[in-house]
Amino acid sequence: MTKQLYFDIAATTPMDIAVAEIVHKANIENYGNPSSMHMSGQKSHNIVERSRTSIAQILNCKTSEIIFTSGGSESNNIVLKGVLNKGDHLITSSYEHPSVLNLAKHLEQNGVEVTFIKPLKNGSISAKQVKSEIKSNTKLISIMYVNNELGTINPISEIGDIASENEILFHSDTVQFIGKEKLDLSKINIDFATICAHKFYGPKGVGGLYCKNGIILNPLIDGGGQENGLRAGTENISSILGMAKALEISNDSLLENKKKILELENYFIGLLENSNIQYRLNGVNRLKGIMNLTFFGVEGHGLLMNLDMQGIAISYGSACSSGSANAPQALIEMGMEENEARCSVRISIGKMIEKDDIKKLFETICNIISRIKK
Ligand SMILES: Cc1ncc(COP(=O)(O)O)c(C=O)c1O
Repeated sequence: MTKQLYFDIAATTPMDIAVAEIVHKANIENYGNPSSMHMSGQKSHNIVERSRTSIAQILNCKTSEIIFTSGGSESNNIVLKGVLNKGDHLITSSYEHPSVLNLAKHLEQNGVEVTFIKPLKNGSISAKQVKSEIKSNTKLISIMYVNNELGTINPISEIGDIASENEILFHSDTVQFIGKEKLDLSKINIDFATICAHKFYGPKGVGGLYCKNGIILNPLIDGGGQENGLRAGTENISSILGMAKALEISNDSLLENKKKILELENYFIGLLENSNIQYRLNGVNRLKGIMNLTFFGVEGHGLLMNLDMQGIAISYGSACSSGSANAPQALIEMGMEENEARCSVRISIGKMIEKDDIKKLFETICNIISRIKK
């Protein structure tokens, strides 16, 4: 059987073996309800709290500021729905993940005023523009740290300072940043940050929200008083433990992974540069490992399908929209012509990729493109 090559870590990552083992063990051994008074319950409670402390230490915030959720989409929903009421103004961007973008459109229909800022041609959001859009009723600014389709990094520190100076709450969807770069929450003026375990080799269906102490939110799910009354429901003990372990592993190997991914990305770009393939790497200030590439004259959707038939996984737009053949939305938002956007794909490189895998990817792309062009 040919080896499957996975170049789609921006959609999700495979679980680290060490994480899978710890999750499996916890599933068998730690069945007590963390809210129960007996020993079995308290054992589970301790696992949840130790995981919370570990995540808070890595992100440099207080333990009580971490809330466990079912993932990035839920955390984004908790913030936007928990903060905004009819008549409030939200500033966000037009290329957020659908869990912010579609929710903002929904809130707009229900009387929340929303400003959608388009990314610049370089793929980033201008902090100056965020500032210029502030109104007297602006209650929340929500701008993602790294765009999932482009890998471009937004000026979160600057936007956080602007929000703080104007006494506006600031949320960032940091899902694509955490685990790939060091996030030190104590160094940014930020009120909410969204965390998602399956982007850093943790389990799917678990995530978190950093919520600055002292901020009162309307809960999304009412019920028991779990998670400080903010998120009712019995905690997913094994997945929470798995997320903490995955973040620890990512944090411990951050420099090593970054170095490896940078070398692999440079190798791939070098191969493209020295070939006769006509391409463009989209976006300027990018997180290494997420590449959005336009291959001129080659439909991105077709390239994806052809690569898939050869056991190579890439993405056309984001995972949430890749079932459709529509042009990737983030590219359209940054002003790219539709026909060029349609010729663009996302290739994202994880720590399990080796140099030979990159060579295979490049050679397969060359073969497919020359076949299509003929
Ligand atoms: C930027 C961003 N935000 C949020 C999410 C949603 O996270 P989850 O799949 O955990 O709901 C994703 C993942 O697709 C993402 O890339």
